[in-house]
Amino acid sequence: MSNGHELLELSPVMPVVVVDDAADAVPVAKALSAGGIRVIELTLRTPVALDAIERVASQVPEAVVGAGTVTTPEQAKQAADAGAKFLVTPGCTDRVLEAAFGTGLPFLPGAGTVSEAMRLAELGLTALKFFPAEPSGGVQFLKAIAGPLPQLRFCPTGGITAETARSYLALPTVGCVGGSWLTPKDALAAKDFDRITALAQEASALG
Ligand code: 3PG
Repeated sequence: MSNGHELLELSPVMPVVVVDDAADAVPVAKALSAGGIRVIELTLRTPVALDAIERVASQVPEAVVGAGTVTTPEQAKQAADAGAKFLVTPGCTDRVLEAAFGTGLPFLPGAGTVSEAMRLAELGLTALKFFPAEPSGGVQFLKAIAGPLPQLRFCPTGGITAETARSYLALPTVGCVGGSWLTPKDALAAKDFDRITALAQEASALG
């Protein structure tokens, strides 16, 4: 995988995962893989996130693990050092972009407006995370910008559910959708990894 466009093709759903216990990361990645989802975005929202990425990268060879919620240049570098195979950002600053380019990893920069998307396209970044998808206009927004900006492809994320994913995936400019519904908080708390596999099976069938 060498660029964001390939990242969009790995799975119909990019699971956005928040782990509070690093020990959960490996069973979660295995549970998702067992359900047919081999990509996992581990968000840098908890103190254990880098440890979690390192564990998945070294112990679950079938999974493609990336770092999500990259909001600082330091995090881009730390995620790469931990073994992340890709980076995802909710939005972009010059410094975060520079650091993400510096890692050499494929990444999905976040954009929520036409101007943000145009700025990223100017830099050669045409595979984007559309965030936060639902509050920013959802399917209608993506349909509207496909006319003026047909070269862009998206992973819409934010407020998408198993029920609404299909309407996004039907758009030609959408490669995959992101969402946290595959790893619900209560399933993680109960270490119910079978439920995560079942949710992953449903999600992979959307493809
Ligand atoms: C993200 O960081 O990409 C979103 O918080 C995930 O959004 P969701 O929880 O609404 O799926």
